[in-house]
Amino acid sequence: MQLGVCYYPEHWPEAWWADDARAMRAMGIRQVRIGEFAWSRIEPAPGHFDWAWLDRAIEVLAAAGLQIVLCTPTATPPKWLIDSDPSILAVGADGRVRGFGSRRHYDFSSDAYLAQACRITREVAARYGQHPAVIAWQTDNEYGCHDTVLSYAAQAQQRFRGWLQARHGDLDALNAAWGTAFWSQGCTRFEQIDAPIGSVTEAHPAQRLDYRRFASDEVLRFNRAQCQILRELSPGRLVTHNAMLFFTEFDHRALAADLDLMSWDSYPLGGLENFWFDDAEKHRWQRSGHPDFAAFHHDLYRGMSARPFWVMEQQPGPVNWGAWNPSPAAGMVRLWTWEAFAHGADVVSYFRWRQAPFAQEQMHAGLQTPDRQDDVGAAEVRCAAQELAHLPASRSRRAAVALVFDYTSCWALDIQPQGADENALRITFDAYAALRALGLDVDIVGPDDDLSGYALIVLPALPIVSDGLADALVASSAQIVLYPRAGSKSPHLGIAEGLPPGPLRRLIDLRIPRVESLRPGTTLAFHWHGRQHLAQRWRDCVQAGAGVTVQARFDDGQPALLRQGSVHYWAARFDAALERELLGSVAQAAGLATTQLPEGLRLRRRGDLLFAINYSDTVQVLSVPQARWLIGSGRVPPHGVSVAQRRGA
Ligand code: GAL
Repeated sequence: MQLGVCYYPEHWPEAWWADDARAMRAMGIRQVRIGEFAWSRIEPAPGHFDWAWLDRAIEVLAAAGLQIVLCTPTATPPKWLIDSDPSILAVGADGRVRGFGSRRHYDFSSDAYLAQACRITREVAARYGQHPAVIAWQTDNEYGCHDTVLSYAAQAQQRFRGWLQARHGDLDALNAAWGTAFWSQGCTRFEQIDAPIGSVTEAHPAQRLDYRRFASDEVLRFNRAQCQILRELSPGRLVTHNAMLFFTEFDHRALAADLDLMSWDSYPLGGLENFWFDDAEKHRWQRSGHPDFAAFHHDLYRGMSARPFWVMEQQPGPVNWGAWNPSPAAGMVRLWTWEAFAHGADVVSYFRWRQAPFAQEQMHAGLQTPDRQDDVGAAEVRCAAQELAHLPASRSRRAAVALVFDYTSCWALDIQPQGADENALRITFDAYAALRALGLDVDIVGPDDDLSGYALIVLPALPIVSDGLADALVASSAQIVLYPRAGSKSPHLGIAEGLPPGPLRRLIDLRIPRVESLRPGTTLAFHWHGRQHLAQRWRDCVQAGAGVTVQARFDDGQPALLRQGSVHYWAARFDAALERELLGSVAQAAGLATTQLPEGLRLRRRGDLLFAINYSDTVQVLSVPQARWLIGSGRVPPHGVSVAQRRGA
């Protein structure tokens, strides 16, 4: 476990570099990430390289004992490159070219850009790939940031047609799979198929889903080309990419398969402000972030590679890109750091060393202010570094609970939500938050991952279920919870064969001939465990087969909660309290010990260490029998963290 920082030597006078490097080391930082936006400084004109400054920067950082994470600079192609071939630029859904002037101005489908990206990757890797201080590479920066996965440029449409041909084989198969008989959409040549934009009303959902799959594959292609070059020219170094928060536009699990490890960029306050949380939540957590936000991403990205994940960018103070940008509460930078390690991280790296006094991100805090003084976060980093030195080594273990999350299902619900607030990521996050409030550790797994050994498996938002996943669930002895819409769609976004829940009928004998979405404020009442409860937003109208027990019915007689053996089907969406209660009862059936954690307190085990993480602004008291406190105590201060070692764990 170690600390890192993101540094931009090209932003500062060279005379500062050595002091900066020394100050990083004195703060307890071991690793420094550089270079991701430096292309125009490395190659100011086509084929004219200026390596001298970067040579010296690397030497200065290495001489201070810092390990270097070097980046390929492909997120910011220089102006001369764009001018020489404007076809590199992406085209938005409005048909307009997305031009130069910020970053990420390229189309993943541009072969011309891919060749240029490979060329500069090769140059940088050839120069520094064997440098002893270079321990890892980051490819590009945040694929898809600023809504850049989908492009509708001519080359993208062209490659889409080739992709369709490879996927479907021939047009008869495509027409049948998509259902193009509808509205006379059948095609007789692949050249007739365009990208799904510009139609009078919504384009064909199967075409849109395939376009999402295609665009995701284009990201993988781009990344894979860089990985191959880095592995060739920089053997023995780790290759990673920094993923984003609440971002589902490409299949991150597939990307991770080409990397050595996954990393992600953690901005808890920006993430709270800019996403779906309601005003009350935004107020409540404005200086800490939502208690499940960072943890959700840690658990999501941890599950994607065998090696421990990294936090490549950790918010150190206010950011510049939220609708509002408050300061973190005192203690939060330390808390976020510990929380990442609690969830299995190997590295937490802060963004950025020093606040820039210029350009787009000048209002974004760093560990130092522009005048080279420590900013507020620096003291907390020092504190975390000192504490880290005292902690025994440990590895994250497999949790007892698996939450299944799938990118294709996210796209499917985006394309046909059928209710304005249906969002697969949000539904998954809510289920995660409910499980975490019960004190449970959670693995977020993919639909093709190994499910053996889990005691509880939850499918919160999986309209598309493969036969392979259905097989794994049939073979599992876990308690299984299926949320509404599970298995309801075919791989091409039609209604599942034999009606929903499609392949999951092998687990539970149901037929769902109708669904309804409900406006906010509309509720459906049912009784369970002697109390009235309310469902909201969505209902599957379920017909139960002979082997199924209906545990609760809505007041209109339709089933609300159903069960067949260890398989539970919930026919509607519930509020947070009821979701927690229901998951708690299934967790107990799975033999898991649960606890009702107070608001803002979260627990997480890493090996024999137990972390108590307090997002609230009051002291939280907890007793952990058979434990020795290594950091703090059972009285966890507001925005504080305590760590206990559990004997015999
Ligand atoms: C990240 C990005 C960084 C910087 C940061 C600001 O999304 O990777 O380059 O822009 O946000 O918070």
